[in-house]
Amino acid sequence: MTGGLVAGRTVIVTGAGQGLGREHALELGRQGAQVVVNDLGEAAEAVADEIRSAGGTATAVPADASDWAQAESLVHKAVAEFGTLHALVNNAGINRDRMLAGMSEQEWDLVLKVDLKGHFAPMRHAAAYWRERSNQGSPVAARIVNTTSGAGLMGSVGQGNYAAAKAAIAALTVVAAVEFARYGVTVNAIAPSARTPMTEPVFGERMRAPESGFDAMHPGNVSPLVVWLASAGAGDVTGRIFEVEGGVISVADGWQHGPRIEKPSRWEAAEIGGPLRELLGRAPAPAPVYGA
Ligand SMILES: NC(=O)c1ccc[n+]([C@@H]2O[C@H](COP(=O)([O-])OP(=O)(O)OC[C@H]3O[C@@H](n4cnc5c(N)ncnc54)[C@H](O)[C@@H]3O)[C@@H](O)[C@H]2O)c1
Repeated sequence: MTGGLVAGRTVIVTGAGQGLGREHALELGRQGAQVVVNDLGEAAEAVADEIRSAGGTATAVPADASDWAQAESLVHKAVAEFGTLHALVNNAGINRDRMLAGMSEQEWDLVLKVDLKGHFAPMRHAAAYWRERSNQGSPVAARIVNTTSGAGLMGSVGQGNYAAAKAAIAALTVVAAVEFARYGVTVNAIAPSARTPMTEPVFGERMRAPESGFDAMHPGNVSPLVVWLASAGAGDVTGRIFEVEGGVISVADGWQHGPRIEKPSRWEAAEIGGPLRELLGRAPAPAPVYGA
């Protein structure tokens, strides 16, 4: 495939064996990328096959994206196969939903490892590669697209572990955007909403495909934004979080310094209540937590 928005660009997609990642990989393939399809097992090979059958270029690299050494080897294999790396789409994620008071240590640790470290580890190894290229004087127009969630941006009842990991991914995105700018790397994140094996068990009815007309919850609707953010032409957009669902793309405006109270000396605990309530009266109400 010669034309396309990402023609000739090498792009890794983690967790691309099903759901959103699979759609991103397929669309990247249609748009001319050399796609490195990652997932835990054989699913990666099936998606790489699908891309090649449609005339695209792809290779499968089964690996645990949240394992330090495997993430490094994922980056190295992409470079070995296609000669370079242009973009990393961090998509792999899991959830283990439970109310916090009953959540187990394993449920906490697993979600934080897969979702948060599963973003940081591939990002760290890809960034080291791009830093080296940049330091050698090679032009770099690299892109990282992370995957956060409305649960991370607003909070979500019953998903404390997942929301904490996804909020951390949003913070990681804005820090990485600043740190990697000097190497020619942009870093953005999407907060998608779509019908996938992850969401169907909970939102099956709400996300069901209509009999006719636009299937807004189809996961493929999210992928064009990912492709654009991975393209060479997106170099002026970094440190942003985009919510995307169906035909809607919005930019999340994140934490801001809000109104304040101030005095020229230390506050006494007993005097804080009144001014603090007055301050909250001047502040915008927080967005509701999902499921509250
Ligand atoms: N579907 C939605 O509405 C929605 C909403 C918000 C955020 N997200 C996020 O989008 C991403 C994709 O979600 P999805 O709905 O397609 O889920 P999904 O469960 O359908 O797909 C996730 C894929 O990631 C893979 N994966 C899991 N752990 C991995 C690891 N350690 N290394 C490599 N691959 C791994 C899984 O095998 C699976 O193929 C996730 O990060 C998810 O949190 C999805």
